[in-house]
Amino acid sequence: MPLAVVNCGEIVTVAGPARPRIRDEMKNLSIVRGGAMLVREGRIESIGPQMELKAHIADEYEIVDAGGRTVLPGFVDAHTHPVFAGTRADEYEMRAGGATYEQIAKEGGGIRSTVRKTRAASEEDLFETALGRSQWFLRVGTTTIEAKSGYGLTLESELRILRVICRLGAENRLRIVPTFLGAHEVPDEYRGRTGDYIDLVVREMLPAVASAGLAEYCDVFCEPGIFNGEAALRILGAARELGLGIRMHADQLSRSGAAEIAALAGAATADHLEQIDARGIEALAHAGVQPVLLPASVYTLGSKRFAPAREMIDAGLAVVLATDFNPGSSPTPSMPFVLSLASTQTRMTPAEALTAATINAAYSLGRGSEIGSLEPGKQADFVIHDCRDYREIPYFVGLEPAYETYLGGRLVYSRHDRP
Ligand code: NIG
Ligand code: FE
Repeated sequence: MPLAVVNCGEIVTVAGPARPRIRDEMKNLSIVRGGAMLVREGRIESIGPQMELKAHIADEYEIVDAGGRTVLPGFVDAHTHPVFAGTRADEYEMRAGGATYEQIAKEGGGIRSTVRKTRAASEEDLFETALGRSQWFLRVGTTTIEAKSGYGLTLESELRILRVICRLGAENRLRIVPTFLGAHEVPDEYRGRTGDYIDLVVREMLPAVASAGLAEYCDVFCEPGIFNGEAALRILGAARELGLGIRMHADQLSRSGAAEIAALAGAATADHLEQIDARGIEALAHAGVQPVLLPASVYTLGSKRFAPAREMIDAGLAVVLATDFNPGSSPTPSMPFVLSLASTQTRMTPAEALTAATINAAYSLGRGSEIGSLEPGKQADFVIHDCRDYREIPYFVGLEPAYETYLGGRLVYSRHDRP
């Protein structure tokens, strides 16, 4: 049945040029006040002032009354690690006691501790847990996530995680873009033999992942002492030859020139970038790499060093915001919280943050023509938020503003059934 979404206090369409938004374009949200939206076969048919569309709303339409609330495109969370077993609440407590993320990792905790638990879990258990988590994303108004592997680090367990990710996508509740992150950490059995592990990633894992069609992108955690620039270039070069797109964890914990490596590798995105400097920003601008900023991981690690979002916007970079949802550095699926941090800690305006979390994120995943804004012809991935002004979404921090979440015109989450 076609849908007519009526009585929208405002529809934040984010309509605009068919490319990532830069500089002042990031502030323009193309808001329709007192609007309505018509949806047919999962796609947006038209959007406009209700007075104008009223004549087109025939009996065949199912009416969704937004009750004066705000309608937004679903958030596109372009960086998550959602398939893992267990938690790291113990390390969270240790950090409160003064231990650092790096110390904990060196002593065998961190990513490697999640790897041990994830390897021990069955594919069915991983799927059930991840399915529960996919509901968390819908509940905060996210309709697409990029999902990385990286807690298996053997051929078999990386494939298992990617199969879980692809199965989640096949449930059609949340759109999923799968990324292979075999180079997330050097696993226990390869300590001191990083080169051998890189060989395994390049010679066995990547060809198997590509031939099974289990990933669209390949990512590397590029950090001195883990995978250096040379290793990243080798892995990402091999991925490119197999037809995968490229993303990179870059300049997170130290300034190693990883941003320049991402530029050299022709990456779609360089992610984190808390330690980047002016030269790194210039390299990204020159190569057209989109920065993906992850302020919730800075917050969780108790650091004050957020990525320089304003300098990036001034340099013409098409900034993206994402959660980095993972059990260690960012255990939150909440894009509203990320938007709040972007405004309070990096001085992005709510409008810029919203653009970064929707249309720019969609372009970073090669899906800018399908999702990320509410425009005729695009997927009807939209969220009715329980507010009258989109700025309330980051402003009332800690609330869950999503009231109803729709994917391709189908209701996938509703808050009203909750007691
Ligand atoms: O993006 N830095 C590497 N990867 C993740 C952390 C993963 C973890 O701690 O489990 C990140 O912050
Ligand atoms: Fe990450």
